[in-house]
Amino acid sequence: MTLWSGRFRAGLDSLASILNNSLPVDKRLYPEDIRGSQAWAQALAAAGVLTADEAGSLVDGLQAVFEEMESGSFEFHDNDEDIHTAVERRLTELVGPVGGKLHTGRSRNDQVATDFRLWLLSTSKKLDAAIANLQKALIHRAEIDLEVILPGYTHFQQAQPILLSHWWMSHFWALQRDRDRLQDLTRRAAVLPLGSAALAGTTFPIDRFALSKDLGFNLPSQNSLDATSDRDFAAEFLFWASLTGVHLSRMAEALILYSTIEYGFVTMADEYSTGSSLMPQKKNPDMLELTRGKAGTLIGLLTGLLTTLKGLPSAYDKDLQEDKTAVFEAADTMEVLLPVVEGVISTLTVNTDRCRQAIHPAVLATDLADYLVARGVPFRSAHEAVGKAVRLAEETGKNLTTLTLNEYQSIHPDFTEDLFNSLNPESSVNRRSVYGGTAKQAVEKQIEEAKQVLH
Ligand code: ARG
Repeated sequence: MTLWSGRFRAGLDSLASILNNSLPVDKRLYPEDIRGSQAWAQALAAAGVLTADEAGSLVDGLQAVFEEMESGSFEFHDNDEDIHTAVERRLTELVGPVGGKLHTGRSRNDQVATDFRLWLLSTSKKLDAAIANLQKALIHRAEIDLEVILPGYTHFQQAQPILLSHWWMSHFWALQRDRDRLQDLTRRAAVLPLGSAALAGTTFPIDRFALSKDLGFNLPSQNSLDATSDRDFAAEFLFWASLTGVHLSRMAEALILYSTIEYGFVTMADEYSTGSSLMPQKKNPDMLELTRGKAGTLIGLLTGLLTTLKGLPSAYDKDLQEDKTAVFEAADTMEVLLPVVEGVISTLTVNTDRCRQAIHPAVLATDLADYLVARGVPFRSAHEAVGKAVRLAEETGKNLTTLTLNEYQSIHPDFTEDLFNSLNPESSVNRRSVYGGTAKQAVEKQIEEAKQVLH
């Protein structure tokens, strides 16, 4: 028997039933489903629809169901279409006919939307904490790698030297925006659908404001049609997961390159590396490759849900059942991915000398142009002059630090001996002491601010 069999003569075809049943996916919603139902029973009593005794036995019965679920002794039946059906079926077995009163004035449409939002709110808290842990690892790295200078790239060509700490912190701030986004979307998710019933609102005098408060929502939904069909919170969550995944993927991509023999800037810890079944020497950065790969999968989940939503007329349509598969997969992925990336970052070894040696003297060209600017040369002329110096160096097999003063002066008369004094990566970095720049002082300030933001 299903919850809706009254008007049917025949049962559902067995394959159709497999397609229809969402239990394998939504059974993890049992804590939220039971909590929501307990609050609903009490709201029905407060509205005078149930007696206090009836509500009491429903609440206690639901608690017993919860305990069976927790201990694993709960037995699911073939006819349990979804978690809502399973809980109500078992409740009625335990408390008798009064169990049949729980669904008064309620539909699975407002019920599932309520359960799912409750789940998303508590899951978001866990994920927020996981991002914060990763951010802490980045700050820690930034603190211990403060003396490491490496080439900074644009177009993946060496551009200007930077502190490795500055690079770590660049990822901190992207993740900070991700946390912001997650917190922001939970504000919109904290709206209670319950009381909307199937689509038009319940006929019973439920105090939805009290119910909303009771379940920890900010306020009840303003429109029952919208409440039962709105899955913005699910789409926003998937966008959050996708963009966070993209941020992790970009960081992973750079670290994969930096861990190659050619770069050798970092060495991954064994705990986060894997070998090859054929090539004995291999040590592969699989965790970072999977990070990159998962970003693609996450984007696919977002695209899938948006595509599902775009054609739906109001209000509830069964297509909406697909929402949980996508969101659960994204959440489960993030729950593993974030701590793994944290582990990779906190255990890798930085090869300071390799980073320093990789810096080509040509990356000091901007500093040389700034040198001329400080002597009153317009920046455009300075740029042109240094460009010529770079070309001369290339043609003579030298570099910007080995060209002679004579050669420099043949290009521009404002070059004097002192040009060589600060023509090194350390000076280049430390000149960038502007707020947000890569100078050690500025990065230290940045780390301080990051610590404050994190608290
Ligand atoms: N399992 C369903 C879902 O996840 C619950 C809602 C069913 N509503 C309905 N009218 N059949 O969407």
